[in-house]
Amino acid sequence: MIDLRSDTVTLPTETMRQAMAQAEVGDDVYGEDPTINRLEALGAQMMGKEAGLFVVSGTMGNLVAILAHTHAGDEIIVGANSHTYYCETGGLAMLAGVMPRLIDDESGIIEPAAVKAALRPKDIHFPQTRLVCLENTHARGGGVITTPAQMRDIYELAQENNLKVHLDGARIFNAAVATGIAAKEFARYADSVMFCLAKGLSAPVGSLLTGSKEFIERARIARKLVGGGMRQAGVLAAAGIIALESMIERLAEDHANARYLAEGLATLKGISLQLERVQTNIVIFNLIKPGLEAGKFLASLKQKGILANSMSPTSVRMVTHRHIGRAEIDLTLAAVEEILAE
Ligand SMILES: Cc1ncc(COP(=O)(O)O)c(C=O)c1O
Repeated sequence: MIDLRSDTVTLPTETMRQAMAQAEVGDDVYGEDPTINRLEALGAQMMGKEAGLFVVSGTMGNLVAILAHTHAGDEIIVGANSHTYYCETGGLAMLAGVMPRLIDDESGIIEPAAVKAALRPKDIHFPQTRLVCLENTHARGGGVITTPAQMRDIYELAQENNLKVHLDGARIFNAAVATGIAAKEFARYADSVMFCLAKGLSAPVGSLLTGSKEFIERARIARKLVGGGMRQAGVLAAAGIIALESMIERLAEDHANARYLAEGLATLKGISLQLERVQTNIVIFNLIKPGLEAGKFLASLKQKGILANSMSPTSVRMVTHRHIGRAEIDLTLAAVEEILAE
């Protein structure tokens, strides 16, 4: 199978498996797992933050961040298409008890004006707004990058209004590699940053939440609250260290392959695609052939040995990663062309 559903399908490397087998471990709830401590320090340093916290998943990292930044009943400003709002099973409402104030991020970018328009004056009728959530790269936007300068405008606005900023940086290293700008230059404009080890970086499990020491202390309690206090999880962190030390640079290959895929798809009749949105490893396109819905298209594709995901009844997402090379993309393009011709 050629699996283009997500970069989460990547398998751990042989080096990761060896590091996992040999990892020095301890009870992390007592802070005694040396490998987790090393990973947390490394992740924090890469984001220019004081401290880090190893969490099971990106979803847990975002939830724990919201729990640590807010109180139940607070409002958070968040993109209507963000993973945190759209794809995390409503955890922000059910488990953190916060109210999402949705703003436009259809393009993958949040405009400072949209945040400004969502600010509330002090009024007895209003909830307390505490947090702005950003996502970079933006998954539903098609892997679009928000530049550090764009992030800075929102961060400054947030600071002026006593709001914190949380960055869902699940794929922040894709943004860093694609722009040549260090991840910490993006992270500078957020109070907390979550990033994933188990996507393009190929670790089997885990994400890191980073921020100030005091924030991470609260996040550690929140992680325990949601059952995320792990014990000898250094076996997982060992793979995470390899991910950060040796898997970042190669993301450039995924980006070049996504570009190659997108350019090929864009030439096919029956597909519309915004090439300018293909900035990293995600390609989203629309099916414009009458009668061809995404469900039917994906079923035909699967019969040809290729997996992808739908984003709506008429749009499809393909994600490149370590197990996808030019040969797989050529096969995919040929299969798509055949389906469109049927
Ligand atoms: C932008 C973004 N944030 C968060 C997540 C959640 O990560 P996880 O699947 O590890 O919970 C994802 C997962 O695909 C994502 O794309």
